[in-house]
Amino acid sequence: MDRTKAIESLNAEIKSCTLCPLHAGRTHAVPGAGPLDADIMFIGEAPGFHEDQQGIPFVGAAGKFLNELLDSAGIDRNKVFITNVIKCRPPGNRDPDTQEVGACKDYLDRQIALIKPKVIVTLGRHSMARAFPDEKVSRVHGIPRKVGSQVYFPMYHPAAALHQPSLRPTVEEDFRRLRQLLEGELLPDEYTPPPTVEQLSLF
Ligand code: URA
Repeated sequence: MDRTKAIESLNAEIKSCTLCPLHAGRTHAVPGAGPLDADIMFIGEAPGFHEDQQGIPFVGAAGKFLNELLDSAGIDRNKVFITNVIKCRPPGNRDPDTQEVGACKDYLDRQIALIKPKVIVTLGRHSMARAFPDEKVSRVHGIPRKVGSQVYFPMYHPAAALHQPSLRPTVEEDFRRLRQLLEGELLPDEYTPPPTVEQLSLF
């Protein structure tokens, strides 16, 4: 199957997904948006009210701020792929739970495998936890890290800076650093994930 057909069929699967209870309350599932040849993939947390209404990621207040940040860094939103850890809106925008994240994991894995982004930008802790489960955004934001051949760039979620205006300069600075990463002026740290419990028990 070619990549266009593969992503269309994946989007159709996501739109008709019933793997977790969130499907019952959704207006639209929100698979993601952007070109297949995107170099950057932004991964947010979950659709909010407006995203659920429209079926498009980051179109509400956090999306408007994300657009401003992209503009300030000279990054064209039409050239990046934007998606979320979970594809349906949790009631009242509560945090996604483990079951919901688990139900959507395969969709996100397949999106990453199809798009093969050069850089994955994680927005907020739920998104970052996929690659760095034991980290804190406050410690690693703005620091590019390479895991195997994949470069990750953890950031605060734009909504965090909307709720806590003192974070705004930090988020703006991280977008400048993202630009530097894309231009090769900032190099990622090599990151070795800590050993798993299974690996530790071999010693
Ligand atoms: N917040 C997210 O994490 N994702 C969206 O799509 C919108 C707001």
